[in-house]
Amino acid sequence: MSTSSDYSHALIRRPRRLRANPAMRELVAETALRPADLILPMFFADGITEAREISSMPGVYQHTEDSLLRAAHEALDAGVRCVDLFGVPVDADKDFNGSQAWSETGVLNRALSSLRKEFGDDLLIMADTCLDEFTDHGHCGVVTEDRHRNVIVDNDATLPLYQQMAVAQARAGAHIVSPSGMMDGQIAAIRAALDEEGYQDVAIMAYSAKYASAFFGPFREAVGSSLQGDRRTYQQDPANLRESLLEAELDIAEGADFIMVKPALPYLDVLTRIADTSPVPVAAYQVSGEYAMIQAAGRNGWVDLDAVMMESLTSIKRAGANQILTYFAVDAARALRNA
Ligand code: PBG
Repeated sequence: MSTSSDYSHALIRRPRRLRANPAMRELVAETALRPADLILPMFFADGITEAREISSMPGVYQHTEDSLLRAAHEALDAGVRCVDLFGVPVDADKDFNGSQAWSETGVLNRALSSLRKEFGDDLLIMADTCLDEFTDHGHCGVVTEDRHRNVIVDNDATLPLYQQMAVAQARAGAHIVSPSGMMDGQIAAIRAALDEEGYQDVAIMAYSAKYASAFFGPFREAVGSSLQGDRRTYQQDPANLRESLLEAELDIAEGADFIMVKPALPYLDVLTRIADTSPVPVAAYQVSGEYAMIQAAGRNGWVDLDAVMMESLTSIKRAGANQILTYFAVDAARALRNA
């Protein structure tokens, strides 16, 4: 029969030794977040005279030009080196094909050019390359009917519109375009169009594994979405992992410089599987609903907001993300600097 002293003698492996104090914990930490890992999504809106807070995303604003530039300076001062721009047109500027997406005077292209003019190459300007904010029906591409009269988004008819949009974004000053519409072949189409117009230096961050997720809910308010229904015929089914590997493989073959998994925290298994083999950087997008839930619980005093923010971002990085798109980017960067 073993006694308690025998037992403790046998216990030569004591993992707690490496957790004894902050210096030891930092010495053995496997994952470190950096401000430069973080990408801040931002919304630039027409039809407002001052920044408007999005009610379901406290601390996130639809910006005017002034407030956009101010917020971008704050991000850069905190150490964030990349922002991702979404445009919010007034309803009167939306149409069937989303033509303001490639107009030089469209809301998003104006935001891109004023940011590029202000920051040059100090702050990377990324553009959302998708039509849903610009179409009057809110879908990500050209809407048509299939032979059974179901309303669908026409994949191949959408690709030339994405090409025009990406070229307009590059012309406006985007360093990175980020196709988020989940059309098959969109990366190859956009790469070809950018190269043909002389924008070989503009990078593509592909939303490769993008799920038809209810976690996008608050984003619909943020961009004043016109969508009725859902995107399940083009975004992925949350039940599936294997097809994400195919999506990533196709996007890399088509020329994606970065690939992305979205949402982040509910899809860490997908992120890890993709990150394990990807030869290009892998980003993850902590989406509006993830942000809203953490904010809501934090503001209710149900969780420690700052601690949960940092833990969620650390977990996304630990799972394999190289870059994280997050509405917490500035708060997290500041917390890292003050740590
Ligand atoms: C589509 C797009 C969406 C988001 C980013 N790009 C919405 C959608 O696909 O329905 C969601 C971002 C978020 O929820 O934070 N252009």
